[in-house]
Amino acid sequence: MSRIPLLAGNWKMHKTVREATALAQDLLEGMGAAFRDREVLICPPFTALGQVHAVIAHTPIQLGCQNVWWAGSGAYTGEVSPAMAKDVGCSYVIVGHSERRTLFGETDSSCHKKVRAILEWGMSPILCVGETLEERDAGQTRARVAAQLVAALKDQSQEDGKRIVVAYEPIWAIGTGKNDTPHEANQTCGYLREVLAGQFGDSVARAVRILYGGSVKPGNIDDFMAQSDIDGALVGGASLEAASFLRIIGHH
Ligand code: 13P
Repeated sequence: MSRIPLLAGNWKMHKTVREATALAQDLLEGMGAAFRDREVLICPPFTALGQVHAVIAHTPIQLGCQNVWWAGSGAYTGEVSPAMAKDVGCSYVIVGHSERRTLFGETDSSCHKKVRAILEWGMSPILCVGETLEERDAGQTRARVAAQLVAALKDQSQEDGKRIVVAYEPIWAIGTGKNDTPHEANQTCGYLREVLAGQFGDSVARAVRILYGGSVKPGNIDDFMAQSDIDGALVGGASLEAASFLRIIGHH
């Protein structure tokens, strides 16, 4: 089965509303005609979602957010619900980014609840998994990412399984300028697909997009996209400027 590549920008805690709408506008202008063979997604901070949506609604650029809480509404000071994300135009939600796991106490169990809620609201979770440098050096990469994947996706139906996106982001490669080699990243993504096959069966595993993230740049995107089990990228720093993200989504 052919999977439509997904090129996603995670803007993290960057950009005021004005900066965010300007970047969205620049991306739209730079893209020109829609790409038929790939999806483009931007994930601005919560504060800019509404106005960025106004810029990109009915265009080929899709909107996502970087986190949600799992409850529908209630006394959860400081949180945003899946309903609110959907209401403001999001079709994707990033779940379990390593920054959220290490800095904000995100766990496999909270990721599981969030994945469930996001699917129930008709959006697609982008579940992030990845190993630390210590785990990598100890040969634990596969065990680590498989454990994260299985814990977050347990009990999901095959139908829902197809809508999940996985992002393999080795923690040591994030924001460091030191990317994983495309070959090794592909090996790990291929292994994640085997784990998905064990959980959901072959046809779901073949349908799920697995992205690579961690120091993706215009200069290395082609090599990642050429890999058999890598279906796109989750891009941090290089998604913050129109010129570099345009080169990444155009793959050159
Ligand atoms: P960088 O592209 O800045 O390494 O960030 C990757 C990332 O964390 C995307 O979610």
